[in-house]
Amino acid sequence: MKKLLISALITAMSALAISPASAHQPVVLLDTDTTAEKGPLLVDGTISFAIRASFTKSGQKKAFRAALKEGDQLDVQYLIVDKKPENSLKNTLLPQLVITSPTGKKTTIKFTERTKFYEPWGRTNYLYLARISTPAEAGIYSFVATSRAKSAITIAVGEKEVTGEVLRGPAPTPTPAVSAKPSPAATASPTPEVTTASAYTMAKVQENNSATSCWSVINGKVYDLTKWINSHPGGSSAIKGLCGIDGTSSFTAQHRGQGSPASTLAGYLLGPLTS
Ligand code: HEM
Repeated sequence: MKKLLISALITAMSALAISPASAHQPVVLLDTDTTAEKGPLLVDGTISFAIRASFTKSGQKKAFRAALKEGDQLDVQYLIVDKKPENSLKNTLLPQLVITSPTGKKTTIKFTERTKFYEPWGRTNYLYLARISTPAEAGIYSFVATSRAKSAITIAVGEKEVTGEVLRGPAPTPTPAVSAKPSPAATASPTPEVTTASAYTMAKVQENNSATSCWSVINGKVYDLTKWINSHPGGSSAIKGLCGIDGTSSFTAQHRGQGSPASTLAGYLLGPLTS
């Protein structure tokens, strides 16, 4: 009986295992995410995220980072949507994914499979091309995808089904680097106080007030919603109406307490609003 129960449990669990990618929080890589440092940081790399990288031609790079701790497992899956052009591209024309560990160990993902996978949440047919699961080193892993043709991929990271945090801008440095000799450039032209990618002021948001560059503030964080305008199930005008302004009240009036809009939003995060 006990054995039966256990096997029923395993069956139920493996049925559930079909859905991890379904709940993976989407993170869309921006055209400016050309290096791991410029790309988003998954604060806890064990939490499930689906990183989307799309390329218009060969030779483009998109990158992100994920932080892991001692004892964590690094889980990464390389997926493509089972549709053209990706599914008809030869493996050698699909974007190359290189993962660099905190100690600098580089792994180029090898495509070892082409397993169909239906993701019910987004009603999308995917193909798994590679899956890795290995004990993690403590620190920040970087992931760099380089295109070899027009294509789009999804890199699923982590397994834990809880809401995770995504940061943009430079990683916080615990101890400020003290440079013995300030570089002449640094002394000659004093850098304005706010120069980093994390400087998202209201003035900057107001500049990005169109459908071609649409930033909005929601609950004190700045989002680049440009790519979401034409994908929003509630229509493009609802999103266009948020460009360049604080969209908190519109967003919460419509979507308060809904997981799916909140997790979609997380994928477009630029960083916290700075005053
Ligand atoms: C950044 C802001 C927003 C994001 C990320 C977002 C995201 C989403 C998502 C993911 C859905 C699908 C929900 C589901 O799973 O059923 C959705 C549906 C919808 N959204 Fe938004 N939304 C945003 C802003 C707004 C605003 C401001 C409005 C209205 C003024 C709005 C109106 C709607 C409506 C009416 C639907 C339902 C469409 C349908 O089921 O046919 N959304 N939104």
